[in-house]
Amino acid sequence: MAHSAFSQVAVSVPVGSDSSSLKQSVFKAQSISFQGTSWAPFSTLSSKTRSKRLSDQYVVCMSLQQASVPKVAVAPLELEDAKEPPLNLYKPKAPYTATIVSVERLVGPKAPGEVCHIVIDHGGNVPYWEGQSYGVIPPGENPKKPGTPHNVRLYSIASTRYGDSFDGQTASLCVRRALYYDPETGKEDPSKSGVCSNFLCNAKSGDKVQITGPSGKIMLLPEDDPNATHIMIATGTGIAPFRGYLRRMFMESVPTYKFGGLAWLFLGVANSDSLLYDEEFKKYLKDYPDHFRYNTALSREQKNKSGGKMYVQDKIEEYSDEIFRLLDNGAHIYFCGLKGMMPGIQDTLRKVAELRGESWDEKLSQLKKNKQWHVEVY
Ligand code: FAD
Ligand code: A2P
Repeated sequence: MAHSAFSQVAVSVPVGSDSSSLKQSVFKAQSISFQGTSWAPFSTLSSKTRSKRLSDQYVVCMSLQQASVPKVAVAPLELEDAKEPPLNLYKPKAPYTATIVSVERLVGPKAPGEVCHIVIDHGGNVPYWEGQSYGVIPPGENPKKPGTPHNVRLYSIASTRYGDSFDGQTASLCVRRALYYDPETGKEDPSKSGVCSNFLCNAKSGDKVQITGPSGKIMLLPEDDPNATHIMIATGTGIAPFRGYLRRMFMESVPTYKFGGLAWLFLGVANSDSLLYDEEFKKYLKDYPDHFRYNTALSREQKNKSGGKMYVQDKIEEYSDEIFRLLDNGAHIYFCGLKGMMPGIQDTLRKVAELRGESWDEKLSQLKKNKQWHVEVY
């Protein structure tokens, strides 16, 4: 899909007698281009020369190879200076008028419904940290209170603080268009479809958008330990904050944030056409195989072991021993997306805890006490 910053080809490099080949990515593109801005130029070597160069490196240890994956320069680095996250710089009574940069459909033709990636230019005036949300006030009147504006709708920010153009000027949202279908006719009824998500998905470059925030502290990435483990569980647009985290960990060159831990993403969507930002994530898998894991649950394409829909909690169950071990060692776990996933996930975790002879209630209260448990569902 459109949201990979890089084009890439994978090259397998044999390492000594190890039969598992070491995959390394090299860049096909000579530069990354976002909104007409070119960033750090990459290898311009021909593929033959590239292969030779790569095999020359075969004694180089993995961590050095990983360190050599080019990252994107970001600015302004003053965005790292604050000790506390920005909060509610703009409120519903006095929102900031931002400008839409672009709106792009993120999903393929067989995805049910539509999800859009929306880039908003805030001119550097509404800074935020990864994991925070913006409020959006759609244009028009609140039908429940005529003469007053619509209520604010919250959207998790899907970019890092530097935005998709790496200059601190934009924020990106990942928005599902809320459609209403008449239960009798089965036809879409635009008069009842979601006000704000339709406004955002229909917006055009240059349109104005009223934003509030940033808000939220629960999903901030704890950065005190750069070697921490982060387990991320997303359904649908719940991927937004995790895209931001992962770009910060693996795509951007931030001198004061050098991630050396493990990020493990579980993403539940309807089918393979509904996967969000998949190319970006697959690139991290190739470039940082020791630091990134990525598992997907395709509810309408795959079956769980009982023959039902494959949900994200089924994947959690599959890897439960590892997940519990990581949590016992201080891993952070984050949930974002459908509110409906939480009871199923809690049931799964409770079942696993019982099989291990542990009390889930005690474990959960300990995780909350240690600030390892982060939930943002809607
Ligand atoms: P609304 O106009 O508010 O309508 C809500 C729903 O009711 C719609 O499904 C609509 O079709 C239905 N409806 C409307 N009228 C009728 C009627 N007469 N009869 C029956 N049904 C009706 N969403 C995202 O897409 N991405 C995100 O990253 C995201 N992050 C969020 C983060 C937080 C912290 C929270 C709280 C929410 C988040 N949301 C996110 C959800 C978002 O805030 C909105 O709730 C969502 O976009 C729907 O808003 P809307 O204005 O489009 O729909
Ligand atoms: P489904 O709609 O097939 O029941 P998307 O935005 O692509 O629809 O992703 C949301 C994903 O979350 C879908 O795969 C959806 O499955 C799934 N989902 C729906 N309800 C739950 C639930 N209770 N627990 C976990 N996943 C769920």
